[in-house]
Amino acid sequence: MLFPEGVAIDGVTGAVTPATGRYVKKLSALRDLYAAPPMVDAFIAEHGDVDAYEVIEYRPDGSDICFGTTIMAPGKIGDEYFLTRGHYHARADRGEVYYTQSGEGLLLLHSRSGEVRVVEMRTGVCAFIPPDWAHRSVNTGGTPLVFVWTCATDAGHDYGEVAARGMRQRAVERNGRPAVVANPNYAD
Ligand SMILES: [Fe+2]
Repeated sequence: MLFPEGVAIDGVTGAVTPATGRYVKKLSALRDLYAAPPMVDAFIAEHGDVDAYEVIEYRPDGSDICFGTTIMAPGKIGDEYFLTRGHYHARADRGEVYYTQSGEGLLLLHSRSGEVRVVEMRTGVCAFIPPDWAHRSVNTGGTPLVFVWTCATDAGHDYGEVAARGMRQRAVERNGRPAVVANPNYAD
């Protein structure tokens, strides 16, 4: 039987208390997602294999819904901002919500039919991610980007599609400002 519970979320650190799980994604694991993978190697040679982002979950066994936080480090590879892997959900009928707690970023999305959208991630903005839209977050600020996500437990992740074809958009710095550009390497 499931029981109600209050879960504390720290909007600055992203700590979830109590949490049921967590994982850290190292920059090296994201190497081939960047426009310039050799620049990832150079970054790691200089700064080490940093924690690019951390995911902390509250996912009770047997629950239909779950939530958690993602804490993204600030940084760039060349002019491209630090990013998450990006994914579709395994189930095409499951959406998600991202509620930004602190930091600044962009949520890049595209649909199966090729529509592209960008949602600004800043404190207080709750992003609606409809079912069957690929989504990737990027940290465009100088501080950690912390957001709360929530979705159906059975939504699942399909990372393969984005890993194979890329996202349709990239978030880069242009003249000191974030800009979103078409990804010339997207495999249509
Ligand atoms: Fe998702």
